[in-house]
Amino acid sequence: MIKTAKQRINNDIEINKDILILAIESSCDETAAAVVRNGRSVLSNIISSQIDLHTIYGGVVPEIASRKHIEKINQVIEQALKEADVALKDIDAIAVTYGPGLVGALLVGVAEAKAISFATGIPLIGVHHIEGHICANYIEHDDLEPPFMSLVVSGGHTHLVNVVDYGVYEILGRTRDDAAGEAFDKVARAIGLGYPGGPKIDKVSKEGDPEAIDFPRAKVRDGEYDFSFSGLKSAVLNYLNSEKMAGREISVPDVAASFQKAVTDVLVEHSMNAVREYGAEKFAIAGGVASNSALRKAMETACEQEGIKFYRPSPVFCTDNAAMIGVAGYYEYLKGNFAGLDLNAIPNLKLGDR
Ligand code: KG4
Ligand code: ZN
Repeated sequence: MIKTAKQRINNDIEINKDILILAIESSCDETAAAVVRNGRSVLSNIISSQIDLHTIYGGVVPEIASRKHIEKINQVIEQALKEADVALKDIDAIAVTYGPGLVGALLVGVAEAKAISFATGIPLIGVHHIEGHICANYIEHDDLEPPFMSLVVSGGHTHLVNVVDYGVYEILGRTRDDAAGEAFDKVARAIGLGYPGGPKIDKVSKEGDPEAIDFPRAKVRDGEYDFSFSGLKSAVLNYLNSEKMAGREISVPDVAASFQKAVTDVLVEHSMNAVREYGAEKFAIAGGVASNSALRKAMETACEQEGIKFYRPSPVFCTDNAAMIGVAGYYEYLKGNFAGLDLNAIPNLKLGDR
C-alpha cells in the first residue's frame, strides 16, 4: 500500500529514523542531484555543468539549457543515489527547485521529480532556489541555526534577508536592476574576460590594484538596504571608452580589482548596517558570488569588527547545486509542507511564497 505523506512522516517520527531527501536542481545551467541525510549531512552531490556549452554564446541560452537538462537528469539522479549508496525505496522525500529560474530548465527538474513521486509514492517537496542558497550554510556549520542575517548574491539575485526561523524570511533589500553576479558577468565581457565572468574577475583581480580606479558605490535613495549595480557597470564602460579615446592602455587587472572592490564595499556596508539595526549575532553569505575571494575576506573582516559570527559555504555549495535544495527540503519535510502532483515551475517565484 502506498502511504500518504502524513502517514510516512508520522511513522518516521515514531521510529525516529534518519530522513533521506533526494534533491533535484535544474533552474539554470547546472543539472544537479544530491542525497542529504537529516538536513545537514550530504551523502552525494552530483553536478553536471553546462558552462562549456554556453561559453561560446557568452551567456546561458535557455533552450540549450533545457535540452541538456533532459539529456542529463536521469544519469545525474542515478549517480547521486549510487554515490550515497541508497536506493529509491530508502528515500523519504523528493525535493525539487520549482522557482525562480528559467522556466524550461525548471520544468525538467519538476517533471522528473513528479514522475518519480507518482511512480513510487515518495512525497514531493517544492523548494525555492534562494532558500536553497541560504540553507547551503547549514551543511558545514552544525552550530548555525536561525535567527541570522544573510546576503544572497547570485547571477539572478541580490537579496539581504533576515532569516527569522527555518523557512521564515524577511527580505530587507534587493537589487533594483542588475544582480551582483550579472554585473560581474557583464563587466567581464566588457574587459574581454568572457563567460562566466565572476570567477575570471576574481582571479585576475589578484594581480590588480583595487584602489586604482574610483568607481561609484551606488546608494538607493528610498531603500536603505536595496542595491543598484547598473550605474557601476555603466561607469566601467565609460571608463573603458574614455581611456580608449585618450589612447591610454587599459590595465585589465586594475579595472577588475577596482570594480570588484566597488561591489564588495556596497555589499559589506549594507549588510553590516542591517546587522547593527536588527542586532543580528550571526551573518551568512550565499549564492555564486559568495565564492568570490575578496567578498569572503571583506565580510569576514567586517563580521570580526562587529563581533559577530561569520558563515560561508565552501565554493562548491555557493554556486548552484542540489545539496542545498535537499537541506531546504528537509526543513519543509519537518513542517509537513508537501506539494501535490500539480506542482508547477514558477520562473518569478518570490521568497516566502509557497
Ligand atoms: O548561484 P549561481 O551559481 O547561479 C544563480 O542562481 O544565478 O551564481 C552564478 C553567478 C554568476 O553570475 C557567476 O559569475 C557568479 O555567480 N560567480 C562569481 C564567482 N563564482 C561565480 N562571482 C564573483 N566571484 C566568483 N568567484
Ligand atoms: Zn543559484
